[in-house]
Amino acid sequence: PARLVVLISGRGSNMQALAECCEREAWPAHVAAVISNRPQAAGLAWAAQRGIATGCVDHTAFAAQSDPRAAFEAALREAIDAHAPDLVVLAGFMRILGADFVQHYAGRMLNIHPSLLPAFTGLHTHRRAIEAGCRLAGSTVHIVTPELDHGPIVAQAAVPVLPGDDEDRLAARVLRAEHVIYPRAVRAWVDGAWWLDGGRVRHAPGAADDLWHF
Ligand code: GAR
Repeated sequence: PARLVVLISGRGSNMQALAECCEREAWPAHVAAVISNRPQAAGLAWAAQRGIATGCVDHTAFAAQSDPRAAFEAALREAIDAHAPDLVVLAGFMRILGADFVQHYAGRMLNIHPSLLPAFTGLHTHRRAIEAGCRLAGSTVHIVTPELDHGPIVAQAAVPVLPGDDEDRLAARVLRAEHVIYPRAVRAWVDGAWWLDGGRVRHAPGAADDLWHF
């Protein structure tokens, strides 16, 4: 079975949705480990309770090194590779990753970003979507490339921005959609239903339909 290593920084609800889907649907894949950069991440405790291997590489522990980011990324890479992942799944992982690190996992690292990319890369996506007067918001599953939030798109979910929405209400609506599309996108990878071809994602005929509708 394919080995998935999931990286989180906090709550980990996308990781939970993925792990639960994996188990419920008896995928030929499993979450081999959940690794956080924050020891307090709630998702770590959840995973440990489910008997999933957990790890933490605390980015603040490298502050005294001459190159803190390089030292953090080397340690993170070691922690990930100890679990021999076929796919690395970023799920609310809130550290920017350097080009060397990304290159090491080229084509086998996914991220979910809470906007309809290429709009609203970076932080505070929901607030910015509301301020811009967007009628649609959503989330994007994409392959990680060195340029932040710019990799080839695998799946997207759109949700309406409703009158009276604030950041939290919109975030909750987007999150519910994420819990559907992220597991589907990973499952589709497990099934070989999409692949990378010349910097773009190609989908097997008919296979992409449920990566957009939910
Ligand atoms: C999700 O909405 C995800 O899209 C977002 O953080 C949330 C994590 O929630 N990711 C980013 O902002 C990445 N820059 P979770 O920890 O409950 O899965």
